[in-house]
Amino acid sequence: MRERLESLRIDALRRVGEATGVEDLRAVEKDFLGKEGAVAEILGLIPTLAPMERREAGQGANQLKTTLLEAIAAAKAALEEAEVAAQRDAGGFDPTLQAAAAKRGGLHPITQVRRDVESIFTSMGYEILDGPEVELDYYNFQALNIPVDHPSREMQDTFYCDEDHTLVMRTQTSPVQIRAMERMTPPFRVIVPGRVFRNEEQDATHEHTFHQIEGLVVGEGIQVGHLTWTLKRFLNELFGRELEVRLRPGYFPFVEPGFELDVRCPFCETGCRVCSGSTWVEFCGCGLVHPNVLAAGFGEREDVDHEKLTGFAFGFGLDRLVMLRFGIDDIRNLMGGDLRFLEQFPC
Ligand code: DAH
Repeated sequence: MRERLESLRIDALRRVGEATGVEDLRAVEKDFLGKEGAVAEILGLIPTLAPMERREAGQGANQLKTTLLEAIAAAKAALEEAEVAAQRDAGGFDPTLQAAAAKRGGLHPITQVRRDVESIFTSMGYEILDGPEVELDYYNFQALNIPVDHPSREMQDTFYCDEDHTLVMRTQTSPVQIRAMERMTPPFRVIVPGRVFRNEEQDATHEHTFHQIEGLVVGEGIQVGHLTWTLKRFLNELFGRELEVRLRPGYFPFVEPGFELDVRCPFCETGCRVCSGSTWVEFCGCGLVHPNVLAAGFGEREDVDHEKLTGFAFGFGLDRLVMLRFGIDDIRNLMGGDLRFLEQFPC
């Protein structure tokens, strides 16, 4: 038995040594260690051997198995290494060449401008709030002084989420005004950046999904001067120069009085495409928070006397600012997800 094992060992190691590819090694493994291989055969013979020989045969077979597995693994590693070396020599591999630069992701242009807006407002002491995109009709409309049959609901084409129309895709960031009043203790100032949704025909200036920034300041003695000062300050920072602003009357059910605020065109002195030759650019809706809205937001609070409070609010579109900043002429590019477009605005 001993000789037999020894001759198997020599045979097997010779074949491992002669192997020129991984397949050869697999064949050696099968012939010697497979189910019907030489080692299995010896183990199968054990019951027929004299008791003295059984141990020797068993130990010898196991030892052969270990030796072979090790030899095969080492040969396999050597073959693989040789293959890599051959490929390298054939392909003129040059280890001193610089590696290809890792591809870097970037921030979406909307994110870039949103962050700029946020940092201007945080520098003025504002907190940044968030709110749900799927919103209760109550917050999106009713609490904002827009009752169920109010015609101003038709100013905004709403995506309803259920048959009863209790849930909507928020059409504006204004509902977060109410959510802020329910939780925060005046005086406070907040902005709310977020996505909003309207069921509109899409074209170069209309998207069903777009972005707004809402602002809300509540305290005692807040008045229109605070509103215009704040928005003027913000616009000066954003465009990096002193710009005039003006108020025109505007109707929004949740403010009284309500305004549209225009800014002197940041791009020209005498009229250009952006301001349609008028030198004024419409910037946002705003006004003093309607007493009904203060009552809806603070009404349940025992710690707040909303009758002593006033506030101002504003809401503007972020997408248009992004388009102005980067010279983009079709809003549909913003949410289109086309990397060829987005890669033009690295940061
Ligand atoms: N939510 C309004 C809209 O989507 C914009 C707006 C107007 C917001 C006046 C305000 C505001 O906070 O006071 O058209």
